[in-house]
Amino acid sequence: MAVDLLLGLQWGDEGKGKIVDVLTKNYNIIARFQGGPNAGHTLEFDGIKHVLHTIPSGIFHDNAINVVGNGVVIDPVIFKKELDNLNKFNLDIKSKLLISRKAHLILPTHRLLDAASEAAKGKAKIGSTLKGIGPTYMDKTGRNGIRVGDLELNNWKEKYRALADKHESMIDFHNVDIQYDLQELESDFFNAIKELKQLTFIDSEEYLYQAQKSGKKILAEGAQGSLLDIDFGTYPYVTSSNTTAAGACTGLGVPPGNIGGVFGIFKAYTTRVGSGPFPTELFDKVGATMGRVGNEFGATTGRPRRCGWLDLVALKYAVRINGVSELMMMKADVLSGFKTVKICIAYKYKGEKVNHLPYNIEAENIVPIYKEMKGWEKDLTKMTSAEQLPETLIEYIDYLEAELEIPIKIVSVGPDRKQTIHR
Ligand code: IMP
Repeated sequence: MAVDLLLGLQWGDEGKGKIVDVLTKNYNIIARFQGGPNAGHTLEFDGIKHVLHTIPSGIFHDNAINVVGNGVVIDPVIFKKELDNLNKFNLDIKSKLLISRKAHLILPTHRLLDAASEAAKGKAKIGSTLKGIGPTYMDKTGRNGIRVGDLELNNWKEKYRALADKHESMIDFHNVDIQYDLQELESDFFNAIKELKQLTFIDSEEYLYQAQKSGKKILAEGAQGSLLDIDFGTYPYVTSSNTTAAGACTGLGVPPGNIGGVFGIFKAYTTRVGSGPFPTELFDKVGATMGRVGNEFGATTGRPRRCGWLDLVALKYAVRINGVSELMMMKADVLSGFKTVKICIAYKYKGEKVNHLPYNIEAENIVPIYKEMKGWEKDLTKMTSAEQLPETLIEYIDYLEAELEIPIKIVSVGPDRKQTIHR
């Protein structure tokens, strides 16, 4: 059975958590393939809002097994907090949540290194979530990392000490003022490791191979968004993993030929948190309204998100890179009330009109070219079927479908599970 993928097509925060939760009833396994606790996947149902960082978004469903894949980086301390938050739901975590032995661990010193590296960058800082993601992936590719499977070996603490000591000298090298109490951080870390070791570790590529062979339905869950991809994003203002479809192959061990549907999620407008170029960013009242109505604050850091119109040039790029087969448009409700809405359909790049995403989209090189469309006045949040959607929103959707040449199968009209319209 082929593995379906679900991933974000913008700069993250598209609403992947909500859609995974909505789709989980159709799947036996939900498998997260990259990223770590820099992600904040928000799910809302029965009047409760849940934010997951590392645990896959299928965890609340009885039918689904949730796998944290080898491509993910795990901070045991944050993972423990996530588990603590789930305690009251009486989930059978030991059998529902399986962790790849090949997933890498975020050490306390990775977090400190992240902070030191960002501080040393000054104005050029990435705007990292400071969860230690970059330094952990650096240790992975540098072949120094500690993996979940190492925790089953007797000598893992020696390996830990050597790496943490090395990190301390690297922190000194940055020569910035970072205050920390490593003993305290380590005490939390070792406590959390004890809890992590209570969970089920697996050889996830083998588990997923057998699952595919026996016809199990698997949904691979991405984190962040395509424009934050280490290769194809707005480098260097990106995260440190492959957030695009290819990341599911390396992050789970799924062969490319066994990828089924690729579900791409985008917001009806655009947001970005952290530094980096954002051609359609708005600095006016319209952008402020999107932020306020859309409650655009980072689920992990609480930082306000930058807001702007939908960038179709960037969206087409993401659709192509990922081979998207179905689209899901989120937060259409947030644009309710605007008389006109705009879509960026091309850029003026160094004076010339271009229809593709050029190498350098820094503000000084790019002027967005917009198409204006009639907005939709009506409140969408109580709508339950595609027939109820206002005519002008349908025109917006039709235009995007024609341009992207892919159907928009879901239109989300609010944060709750129930506020989801299937087309
Ligand atoms: P890092 O992955 O924490 O190092 O952050 C690198 C960049 O990616 C920063 O601009 C972050 O704001 C952004 N980023 C990381 N994770 C997310 C996410 O889950 N949603 C949105 N932006 C993210």
